[in-house]
Amino acid sequence: MSHHILVVDDEPDIEALISQKFRREIRAELYRFTFVGNGQDAYQQIVNASDEAAVDMVLTDINMPVMDGLALLAELTDLACPPKTVVMSAYSDMTNIRTAMNRGAFDFVTKPINFQDLVITINKTLKAIDKERWSQQQLEKAKVQLVQGEKMSALGQMVAGVAHEINNPVNFIYGNLKPAKSYVHDLTELISLYQRHYPEPVEEIQSYTEEIDLDFLQQDLEKLFESLGVGASRIRELVLSLRNFSRLDESDKKDVDIHEGIDSTLLILGSRLKGALEQPEIKVIREYGELPRIACYPSQLNQVVMNLLANAIDALSDRNKESDGSVEPGVIRITTKVVDDDWVRIAIADNGPGISEDVRAKLFDPFFTTKPVGKGTGLGLSISYQIVVDKHQGRLSCESSLGEGTTFVIELPLRG
Ligand SMILES: Nc1ncnc2c1ncn2[C@@H]1O[C@H](COP(=O)(O)OP(=O)(O)O)[C@@H](O)[C@H]1O
Ligand SMILES: [Mg+2]
Repeated sequence: MSHHILVVDDEPDIEALISQKFRREIRAELYRFTFVGNGQDAYQQIVNASDEAAVDMVLTDINMPVMDGLALLAELTDLACPPKTVVMSAYSDMTNIRTAMNRGAFDFVTKPINFQDLVITINKTLKAIDKERWSQQQLEKAKVQLVQGEKMSALGQMVAGVAHEINNPVNFIYGNLKPAKSYVHDLTELISLYQRHYPEPVEEIQSYTEEIDLDFLQQDLEKLFESLGVGASRIRELVLSLRNFSRLDESDKKDVDIHEGIDSTLLILGSRLKGALEQPEIKVIREYGELPRIACYPSQLNQVVMNLLANAIDALSDRNKESDGSVEPGVIRITTKVVDDDWVRIAIADNGPGISEDVRAKLFDPFFTTKPVGKGTGLGLSISYQIVVDKHQGRLSCESSLGEGTTFVIELPLRG
């Protein structure tokens, strides 16, 4: 990346001189110079610069008209993140150079300029800038990890706790359904026996049988038990998925079936896929290949799948909201396969609006989101990236074309 150096000097020759001396670096886009003639113009340019034109370093003369180098330094120190400044002045001007250093200048060069020395000084300054930025980024990354880790573990614990609490009562229901069914069967059998052997019951029994519509009752009871069974096993499945998803007990790498994790996640997201009044259903197509069990951190990987699916669902719902309802139905396609013998490839593709070039450049940045406040945190993809790349030595990439859709690809090493 090219560094932007702002040169502040009232000597008209300096621009030609620097441009000539540094022509190779400029052509290689290592440095980009701009020139102004006094401190005031410099200050304006620094403060008003857009992100792309931000000034990384200032190389300033001390004695200038309008606003001199020392005044410029004084102004710059008030900025939130001032650019690093190197001052230039004659050797005999040591008093001013000292003052500049005391006002926060990073270094100085003496005039007349020795260009070899200037190159060394510029490189040293830029290196210090890069190092500071890198530390800042690491700090930011660590902060995100800490916050998200804390949130996930609290959420995971709660989910696991709730799942556990539901598990017991649901098992009462589930476990008692079978005996209940058989008792009812026995009782109906008994009634049939009575009916066979006493075909002419007393008046009271006859009228009560009609009142309760015994035939219908017997038929319906069977269906009723059927649906009780379906309901209970669906709750059991969901509870299992929640536990599978949070997998708190598994903080070590485990050999797992990736498909199980994906299926659990889909089950949890079920309500968002199913569609509602203004929300048409989203179709999920699973194209699972033959996968071996993979050594990984299962709950973290589930988290990644969850993030990617949630983004795809968001993208598809947004698209539906903006259109007049004539768009093709939303489809999420999940494809898994082994590639190059020792990589597993999980692709999650949607036919949503796609991602523009400039959004794609910032996709994995922490806190980058295009969603309104309260909806998006901008953490999903940055966390996913950390989990896939840092934790699993895998790769996470995104292919997208506007108007056609987006595919996120997770690749994990088989021998991880
Ligand atoms: N499948 C997708 N289709 C379109 N845009 C997407 C998709 N996935 C992610 N994005 C874009 O990436 C941004 C960052 O995603 P993410 O890190 O998960 O944060 P958040 O979902 O909270 O915004 C989203 O705001 C969105 O603009
Ligand atoms: Mg997200």
